[in-house]
Amino acid sequence: MVNLSQLSGNGQFFGEAVAGADTSRGGASGTRAIPALSSFSAGMGRAIRIAPMAARVFLPFLVPALLGLAFFPVSARAGEEYYTSKEPSRDGTGKVYMGREISQTVSSHAISWLERRDREGEEKPSLVLEHLDLKPTDVIADIGAGSGYFSILLAPLVPEGRVIAQDIQQEMLDFVEGRKKLSATPNVETLLGTPEDTRLPEGEVDLAILVDAYHEFSHPREMMESIVKGLAPGGRVVFVEYRGEDPTVPIKPLHKMTVKQISAEMAVVGLEFVEVRDFLPIQHFLVFRKPGNTPAK
Ligand SMILES: C[S@@+](CC[C@H](N)C(=O)[O-])C[C@H]1O[C@@H](n2cnc3c(N)ncnc32)[C@H](O)[C@@H]1O
Repeated sequence: MVNLSQLSGNGQFFGEAVAGADTSRGGASGTRAIPALSSFSAGMGRAIRIAPMAARVFLPFLVPALLGLAFFPVSARAGEEYYTSKEPSRDGTGKVYMGREISQTVSSHAISWLERRDREGEEKPSLVLEHLDLKPTDVIADIGAGSGYFSILLAPLVPEGRVIAQDIQQEMLDFVEGRKKLSATPNVETLLGTPEDTRLPEGEVDLAILVDAYHEFSHPREMMESIVKGLAPGGRVVFVEYRGEDPTVPIKPLHKMTVKQISAEMAVVGLEFVEVRDFLPIQHFLVFRKPGNTPAK
């Protein structure tokens, strides 16, 4: 870093710096023999002559580099402050968000488990549908839709609306497309997201439903911010998650969540708590809302 005392003391620093830059043109050795002040003005003269050429040579590299410095580290760092790491526990990723270790993601090999025949008997998904208070025009986003188990059941309940079956695994969405054809549910559409971005259309979603999915999001903060962006004002978010407070629920600990934990994680993204309804055998049904008035349809 050049400071004013270096520059104003005898001009030597500036003169030598420019001379150094001019070495390739053979000017540096002569410059050193000139007294300090003339060295300074000679250096200035060279600097002025060199500047346009240097600008032509370096600007194409300099501008993107400076822009990169301005934006890239921020986006690369963005979100990192939300997470810490630990030794991964069994079934965990070792990534910790708000005191909770994030679980591993369920792969598309688990489709047969998601589609198992006794799911209705064990978890009563039909009761979830009854408690959603849907309007026929609603736009629903089934986030982490997996095989589309819920998307396909939801579609007939919103005949004038649509269901966006969203996931980060293309294999899951391919399966949803197959089910869509077999079940004649044209108002289901699939949407491939990234682990940090739902890619939902902004401000269009009346209800985002997350069944047994949120606990495995590798970037829960970014995902929730993205969901909030996709919600219409007054839009709701419903979580169906295995009850973390209950040790008798026969699910691995990292795949369960407590009401306290989910509520804390929703508060930081600006969602309002509406209610928790415990009518399901082993899962919570939690409702949150984006502030604002729901537009009439
Ligand atoms: C246990 S499955 C549940 C599937 C479905 N909701 C059900 O109940 O049948 C969890 C799903 O979340 C998806 N998932 C994980 N991280 C995701 C993310 N960041 N965004 C969207 N989906 C994600 C996985 O690919 C997986 O399909």
